[in-house]
Amino acid sequence: MLLTGGSSGIGRAIVQAFVGQGAHVSFLDIDAQGAQQTIALCEQTGGQTPVFYPCDLTQIPALQAAMAAAVAKHGAVQVLVNNAAHDDRHAWGSVTADYWDSRIAVNLRHVFFAMQEVIPAMQQARQGVIVNMGSVTPVLGLGGMPVYSASKAAIVGLTRSAAKEFGKDGIRINAVVPGAVATERQKALWRDPQTVAQIAAGQCLQGDIKPEDVAYMVLFLASEAAAMCTAQTYAVDAGWM
Ligand SMILES: NC(=O)c1ccc[n+]([C@@H]2O[C@H](COP(=O)([O-])OP(=O)(O)OC[C@H]3O[C@@H](n4cnc5c(N)ncnc54)[C@H](O)[C@@H]3O)[C@@H](O)[C@H]2O)c1
Repeated sequence: MLLTGGSSGIGRAIVQAFVGQGAHVSFLDIDAQGAQQTIALCEQTGGQTPVFYPCDLTQIPALQAAMAAAVAKHGAVQVLVNNAAHDDRHAWGSVTADYWDSRIAVNLRHVFFAMQEVIPAMQQARQGVIVNMGSVTPVLGLGGMPVYSASKAAIVGLTRSAAKEFGKDGIRINAVVPGAVATERQKALWRDPQTVAQIAAGQCLQGDIKPEDVAYMVLFLASEAAAMCTAQTYAVDAGWM
C-alpha cells in the first residue's frame, strides 16, 4: 500500500491500520518528524515497519520520483490512498491567483498525478484499488475555505470518472468523505466550543469521530470484502450530511 500524508491525523491511522493487517506500507509526506512518530507507533504494535519517503506533493516531479523509488524498492502499488491535503482557512476576498494555485496544488493536483503513476501497472495486473480522501465540506457548503472545498468536490468527480474509465481493467476507485474528525490538528486549530456544538447539532450520532473510524473504511475498501464497490463516495461523518 502507498499513501500520501501519513505523518499525522487520519493518514497516520490508515498507516497503522494497514500495518496491523500485515500489509507493507510506503508513505509520502513533507513532515519528516511526524513520519518518525508514525513509524514508532507502528513498531510498538508489531507488523512490518512502514517506509517513509520525504516529499513535497506540490512538486509533481518530486512526487513522481518518490513513487518510482517506492515501486523500485517494494514492487508495484496494489493500493493507493491519496490522503494528504491542507485545510487552511481563507476568506474569499484574500484569495489571489497564486494562492488559488497553491491550494489546488496541495489539495487536488497531486491526487491526479499519483493516480496516473500507478494505473498502468494496475491495468497490467488487472487489479488495483485507489481511495481518494474527500470531505463533507462541499456537500454541506461549509464556508471559510472555498478553494479547499472546490478541490474536495473535484476529487469526487476525478474518482468517479477514473472508476468508469478503469473499471474494465479491474481497478476499483472510491472516495472516502470524513466528517469532523478529532485529529490533533483539528483540536489545536479549529475545534473551539462553538464549532464543536455546531458539529454535535449536525451529526446524527453523538461523540467524536476518531481517525481510526476513517481508517477502517479505507481498510474495507481496499479489501476483497469490497470486491464490487467502485465509483462511490463513502462517508464517515456520523450522519452529518
Ligand atoms: N480531520 C478532518 O476533520 C477531515 C474532515 C474532512 C476531510 N479530511 C481529509 O482527510 C485527509 C487527512 O486529513 P487530516 O485531518 O488527517 O489532516 P492532517 O493535516 O493531520 O494530515 C495531512 C497530512 O498531509 C501532509 N501534507 C500536507 N501538505 C503536504 C505536502 N505539500 N506534501 C506532502 N505532504 C503534505 C501533512 O504533513 C500531514 O501529515 C485530508 O485529505 C483532509 O482534507 C479531514
